[in-house]
Amino acid sequence: MTASLTTNYLGLELANPILPGASPLGDDIDTVLKLEDAGAPAIVMRSVFEEQIALEQMAAHKHLDSHVDPEFSSAFPDTDVFALGLDDYLEQVRRIRARTQLKVIGSINGITPGGWIEYAKKIEQAGASALELNLYAVPSDPKRSAQELEAEQLVTVRDVVRAVKVPVAVKLSPYYSSLPHFVRGLEEAGAFGLVMFNRVYQADIDPVKLESQRTLHLSTSDELLLRLRWLAILSPQTKLDLSASGGAHTAIDVVKAIMAGAHAVQAVSSLLRNGPSHVRALIDGLKTFLETQEFASVGEMRGNMNRARSPNPQAYERSDYIHILQSWHGNVS
Ligand SMILES: Cc1cc2nc3c(=O)[nH]c(=O)nc-3n(C[C@H](O)[C@H](O)[C@H](O)COP(=O)(O)O)c2cc1C
Repeated sequence: MTASLTTNYLGLELANPILPGASPLGDDIDTVLKLEDAGAPAIVMRSVFEEQIALEQMAAHKHLDSHVDPEFSSAFPDTDVFALGLDDYLEQVRRIRARTQLKVIGSINGITPGGWIEYAKKIEQAGASALELNLYAVPSDPKRSAQELEAEQLVTVRDVVRAVKVPVAVKLSPYYSSLPHFVRGLEEAGAFGLVMFNRVYQADIDPVKLESQRTLHLSTSDELLLRLRWLAILSPQTKLDLSASGGAHTAIDVVKAIMAGAHAVQAVSSLLRNGPSHVRALIDGLKTFLETQEFASVGEMRGNMNRARSPNPQAYERSDYIHILQSWHGNVS
């Protein structure tokens, strides 16, 4: 029996569910061609950051305008920190569309309502088939409530959805008090998909130099567990297309994410570590698993380990919690 790997994600019919996620993997056309050769059906571009565009504009007008907010510009001292300027980014979307069959998913991280919309429209015009809104935010103002911040995010999503024709997915952090409630709000705002999750990058401290250290560590499969939990909880209760992002290193990681309810599985760290050909290893491993376990398709396997099987998901989570704590049988010396 030959198993079918096809999946639908964000209105796109994809030959398989493995997507190179938002990262530098899309920056260079040779890498993109290798990812396509290895079987990737689509690619998520890295995010356009609104600060990046603002800085580009400031740099262009430096000689005209001395009223640049010094706090803003010192927090982002150099436009070089951003790998692709907006024009280069749009050009790269066009180039990928022209040179490959890959569907391109653009990604945006804005700060002002106008910014999100402007970049969404430009990336759509350049040929993206869908957009990912990267809602990366770490709240630090005690005067602002969760409700207020969430309402703002939902307005952003709604405004972008109204401004473009292509499907819009939202990439979230896992830190919401009631993620299912927020996800319902995203559905009402018109989102098409959900990407779980953004990693919340945490700077370390150099205690001697008194500096913060911003080092990016690639993930391991351990990070998948958080995704599995939330895919399993959300997939029976949302109509959004779900994508896992975080900790997909092996074909079995991919299998688990699909069993928990994912329509697509994004990989970044494993591709940066092993190279573009790792896409082929993930696809082949997924196919072998389906065939060995006698699943006819990815669709047949999707969600077979989600919480739809549990009459009381809250009690199930609590029981998981207690079981896992009680399962430790190591020696305390
Ligand atoms: C070098 C690098 C750059 C990244 N850039 C972005 C980005 O621009 N936008 C975004 O939403 N996520 C970005 N990410 C996060 C990844 O898309 C992904 O969510 C995260 O790495 C977890 O997936 P993984 O375990 O497969 O690496 C980046 C990750 C890495 C390693």
